[in-house]
Amino acid sequence: MCAATPPSASSALRLPPAASDLVPGRVSLVGAGPGDPELVTVKALRRLQAADVILHDRLVSDEILALASPEAQRLYVGKARSDHSVPQEGINQALVDWAQSGKRVVRLKGGDPFIFGRGGEELETLVAAGVEVEVVPGITAASGCAAYAGIPLTHRDHAHSVRFITGHLRNGSCDLDWPALASPGQTLVFYMGLGSLELICEQLRAHGLADDTPLALIEQGTTARQRVHVASLSDLPSADELANIRPPTLIIVGTVVTLHDALAWFDSDRAASHGWLQGKHPTPSDTSGGA
Ligand SMILES: C[S@@+](CC[C@H](N)C(=O)[O-])C[C@H]1O[C@@H](n2cnc3c(N)ncnc32)[C@H](O)[C@@H]1O
Repeated sequence: MCAATPPSASSALRLPPAASDLVPGRVSLVGAGPGDPELVTVKALRRLQAADVILHDRLVSDEILALASPEAQRLYVGKARSDHSVPQEGINQALVDWAQSGKRVVRLKGGDPFIFGRGGEELETLVAAGVEVEVVPGITAASGCAAYAGIPLTHRDHAHSVRFITGHLRNGSCDLDWPALASPGQTLVFYMGLGSLELICEQLRAHGLADDTPLALIEQGTTARQRVHVASLSDLPSADELANIRPPTLIIVGTVVTLHDALAWFDSDRAASHGWLQGKHPTPSDTSGGA
């Protein structure tokens, strides 16, 4: 008698029945999560497999695109601020046009479409044009990177709130409510902040956060290229180290960062995603580029 072969994980998976389908003429604004393809939701996976056309940006890794139907047309519409391959208005119009031509359209964005992802503007355009649309949320970088770095964002011994902030420089300055950001007992998560790291630290210190407040720079979080650099507001990584940090990079500020040493669990050598190829993103020294 031979032993029964154990079912593989995927054949044993009992997925919930789909509540809806991606029908012709509909657009699905889908969050791809922070990088690790295993962090894509079941619904996002279904949409990728049903799509005729996928418009994706630069934070979507090749491993995630590989989950889509081989027949789907993949269109790269990614943009760095310094290099708008397709202006936002062009993307909005393309979504309307593809839907009105009867295609099943997926607009695939890194992380969550509504967190610094301009998904709101795309949704407004589609609604205004009378196109049928849905939103599939994704795991945003703050959740994914913090989890994989062993930094619990609202650990009750450290923080009563968490704020997601853009570090995107406008005309050379971050126009933020610094006094509110510098109040204690909270965790700050800066997206697109690598180019303005020094300014962020200067402002937080000037508005009262202690010099030794820890911060973490999480590079290519949740992927095999994830690296976590721990520093403090007054003691940043050396210029050489900073120059070698590859986008995308997330900045977490607050005493929760002290937990990283004891709680870091993620083994990047066994990661499911190889991360983004060098050069697919602007370099950290390019402050106009959205690191
Ligand atoms: C334009 S925002 C898009 C955010 C995305 N919609 C989300 O919800 O995560 C891009 C920024 O997200 C952050 N980011 C996204 N994925 C990341 C990752 N895997 N590791 C580190 N930072 C990431 C970086 O700060 C990057 O500059």
